[in-house]
Amino acid sequence: MTDQFLDEKKGWSDEPVLPLHEEHNEEEYGRFKISKKFIVKVLLCMGFYFFLISPAAFKVPSWAKGLKGVVSDYSYYGKAQQEKSLDVFFKALETNFASNWSKKYTAEPHLAGTNFGLAEWTKEKFEEYGLKSTIDQYEVLLSYPHEQDLRLLDTNTGEQLYRAPLKEDEIEEDETTKGEGLVPTFLGYAANGNVTSSFVYVNYGTKDDFAYLQKLGVDVTGKIVIARYGAIFRGLKVKFAQENGAAGVLLYSDPGDDHGITPAKGFGQYPDGPARQESSVQRGSAQFLGGIGSSPGDPTTPGYASKPGVDRQDPHANIGKIPALPISYREVKPILDKLNGHGTKVSLNNWKGELDGFEYWTGPNEDVQLNLYNNQIYNISTLTNVYGEFEGERKDEAIIIGNHRDAWIKGGAGDPNSGSAVLLEIARALGELKANGFKFKRTIILQSFDGEEYGLLGSTEFGEYASKRLQHNVAAYLNLDSAVVGKQLDLSASPLLNDVLRSAASKLAYPEPGVGTLYDHFVKEGDDKIGILGSGSDYTVFLEHLGIPSADIGFRGGKGDPVYQYHSNYDSYYWMANFADKGFVYHNLMAKYLGLVTLELSQKEVLPFGLNKYAKALKEYFNNAAASVPEEWLNEKVHHKDLRKFYNHDFDDETFVRESSNGHYASPFLPRMGCHRSAMIHHLKDEKPKKLHFGDIHKSQKKNSDQVGHFEATSKAHHTGYNDEEQDVETIEDGNRASQERHEEKTKIKVEKIKPGCHSFDTKKMNKFGKKQAIKKPDVQIYHEKDSEVTQSEHTPSGDTDYHKSSHGKSFHVKDEHHKAKKGHHKDKFHPPHPIEMERKHGNETLRMLLEKTAYDLDSLFNATLDFDAKSEYLQSQYDDDNISWWQRIKLHFQIKKHNKIAQYFERGFLHKKGLHERPWFKHIVYASGRFTGYQGQTLPGLNEALEDKDFGRFVKWLGIVSRAFKRSFYPISSTN
Ligand SMILES: *[C@@H]1O[C@H](CO)[C@@H](O)[C@H](O)[C@H]1NC(C)=O
Ligand SMILES: *[C@@H]1O[C@H](CO)[C@@H](O)[C@H](O)[C@H]1NC(C)=O
Ligand SMILES: *[C@@H]1O[C@H](CO)[C@@H](O)[C@H](O)[C@H]1NC(C)=O
Repeated sequence: MTDQFLDEKKGWSDEPVLPLHEEHNEEEYGRFKISKKFIVKVLLCMGFYFFLISPAAFKVPSWAKGLKGVVSDYSYYGKAQQEKSLDVFFKALETNFASNWSKKYTAEPHLAGTNFGLAEWTKEKFEEYGLKSTIDQYEVLLSYPHEQDLRLLDTNTGEQLYRAPLKEDEIEEDETTKGEGLVPTFLGYAANGNVTSSFVYVNYGTKDDFAYLQKLGVDVTGKIVIARYGAIFRGLKVKFAQENGAAGVLLYSDPGDDHGITPAKGFGQYPDGPARQESSVQRGSAQFLGGIGSSPGDPTTPGYASKPGVDRQDPHANIGKIPALPISYREVKPILDKLNGHGTKVSLNNWKGELDGFEYWTGPNEDVQLNLYNNQIYNISTLTNVYGEFEGERKDEAIIIGNHRDAWIKGGAGDPNSGSAVLLEIARALGELKANGFKFKRTIILQSFDGEEYGLLGSTEFGEYASKRLQHNVAAYLNLDSAVVGKQLDLSASPLLNDVLRSAASKLAYPEPGVGTLYDHFVKEGDDKIGILGSGSDYTVFLEHLGIPSADIGFRGGKGDPVYQYHSNYDSYYWMANFADKGFVYHNLMAKYLGLVTLELSQKEVLPFGLNKYAKALKEYFNNAAASVPEEWLNEKVHHKDLRKFYNHDFDDETFVRESSNGHYASPFLPRMGCHRSAMIHHLKDEKPKKLHFGDIHKSQKKNSDQVGHFEATSKAHHTGYNDEEQDVETIEDGNRASQERHEEKTKIKVEKIKPGCHSFDTKKMNKFGKKQAIKKPDVQIYHEKDSEVTQSEHTPSGDTDYHKSSHGKSFHVKDEHHKAKKGHHKDKFHPPHPIEMERKHGNETLRMLLEKTAYDLDSLFNATLDFDAKSEYLQSQYDDDNISWWQRIKLHFQIKKHNKIAQYFERGFLHKKGLHERPWFKHIVYASGRFTGYQGQTLPGLNEALEDKDFGRFVKWLGIVSRAFKRSFYPISSTN
């Protein structure tokens, strides 16, 4: 499949042109110095100012002249210009082409690595709409379906009792369910094999389900297990099955998981009604994604980019060794029926689906067997990402909107091409703005990824390839996957983006009568809850590997919506146009909504990030984790060894975060002599030489010679194994070795600059800075919350109230962080102690005291974010004030610039170089996908996983990592005035 495209791609440059500029200068970290550079900046700024106030800077569109008249109203700084530009944007979207794009993307099969035609077409559309467009390719391991078979056999006679057709029904009126180019029902990366064995029903196939079976005495060793879809990511079902000794896996969609929209309850099946078609099969990836020991992306290049000639690892840390197939509920019925009366009839409610005739027994029934045969073609294929760019004045504060293009099926009108259609609509409307002379303040980049379905391949490889450039130059990543598969707005995001997401929603009308704004709908139907990001789509690398604030946005199934025919032939244009989104109204609304979010992020002079929302969320996560600490741990004196982990300096992390945040986040206090003796000893112990662990495969690796263009293969230091966190692991963060070496040199220099010493975050300093943080400025009300439960009402972070105020007049309720609180009895016991008190106890701490210290650090951070957000508001209002003098404006320019950088890099401060326990690829210490769930988000994973594993020492160590992140984030924020 690849060769054909290798030929086609002639004419493309092999050298990927990324829309992000590479850093060339060894940027001086730290404080601003008056230098030649400064003078140049002042001059530039003055030029900038005079240029911008000239009315010519914004060409007035001809239609607008006719409409509104007065040209002199257009001031670059005023709100009027913003409003006018929004008019242009919305006017473009009065025409709705989403249906056309949906039809185009879903008219031909476009499995990962086989959609070059659509990549090319997307690039052309980007160019047509005025984006500078480029192609970026990766060479990844993929599997394509070849042969699959499933038969039910009589164990004694060998007679075939049933053979599953492994085909979905053709629907007369639905073009993409028939004809050429249908994709067989299969699971990407499922191992090849031919297994004959008896079988067991394992419910959802979660870790707990397998544990429960063990308790029941049902042995799955050597058996084929049958799991229903739901609860966790499918690849982890295969992982747990394999770990429990199973020989093969069948996955099916149970009507019991369709929320009552079933034929049994009187709903017609597609195409006669909203219920799931009975032959519908959910294809998908069996990759392990975020499971223990795994990472997303090309399974042969964990942690580094799959550019041509790169070394490859054994993929089996990331993909399974047992065959697996997906089937429909119609196909599984005759198979599961055979289990009735065998094994245990599980009485637990959550073990029962609604499959007609099956009584949900576990089996096995030794009188029958399944023969499961899976044969796929595994090869290295070429993935094609397409990038389009609207260049802004600030190329180092880019906003990215990403969507994947590949689908499991010929159709894919929901997943992912509702997102693709919306992406093109946004391109078109922003293009209209550009054509009208509009100046984008921040660069906006649109990305169409390939290979998401197999394991977030296109985005992950790109993220690994351009990691430093992304960390330095991107302010936010907005994800569109299944943008429209229902009518209920579903938002998950880094809390930094919550304000923008809500304020944009409050400016748009919801299409149904009587509902009000999109935000009103979100409050009413979604309880105003913005979820946390886990995994399962392309934001994963941006947020969890790189620390870039991200959001995932879509209309998903709600009340009255049809069952989503996920990854089946029925996720088609016909289904979309007739069931999910008649008239493509919600596609249009999504284009307006996400476009508006993007424009608010790009055009606000002060980056509209709500740091206090983040700190508030942190408090909630931290309190929840602390509340789950077993009572008997609290008064336990922390052993010297564990205490060392808590106070460990981890210069590696400081350097790593400093790099990731372009020098803006890292402890500003270089260690000095003369602090705690114990801490000093701890530190000296930490100074042992680093061990490098490259894994076994590394030893046998050979130097590659087939390098393409300037690209040099990364032939060193990919770690493959998942070493204990105690060990130092070197990883390559950027696919480009030259830059990696530069990076290493830089790192070395940085490390040398930091003289080894002792723990510097002592509480006296903390206190001093705590006092210092109050910022005095006019006309700004600073909201302090009494405690983390109190909601902050009527307070938006932006000074531009007209632009931002939500029309419903409701308070911004902080139900947004919906992490279920396991309300513990000792929840409120962690009052920040007196700093001197903490000091005195040093070296003699109980866990309770360490929790209190950390709570204190978080409280300091929380307080500082309140002031920071108030200052954002103040700076924006100054900027919007037409009456300030030009010299004030110049000063303001530099203030805002610095302020924006602190906001932009805030989330990078929560990265941990060595990554999570047994999942080093996941570097974010606040958000990760659940290690046993895959999709579902987990907060403060280091702490919560240590609690789950009842590992006291690891909990203390992670408490140290978390508290250092709180401190590190506190200083730049508190010293911005
Ligand atoms: C798979 O194994 C079964 C039983 O051993 C055998 O009958 C069948 O021919 C095999 N299928 C293939 C395609 O090799
Ligand atoms: C630590 O605790 C022990 C007894 O619990 C006490 O004797 C000792 O003085 C304490 N040390 C410090 C430094 O507070
Ligand atoms: C944070 O602010 C509150 C309210 O002003 C104050 O009571 C508290 O002591 C502050 N916390 C810290 C750690 O500075």
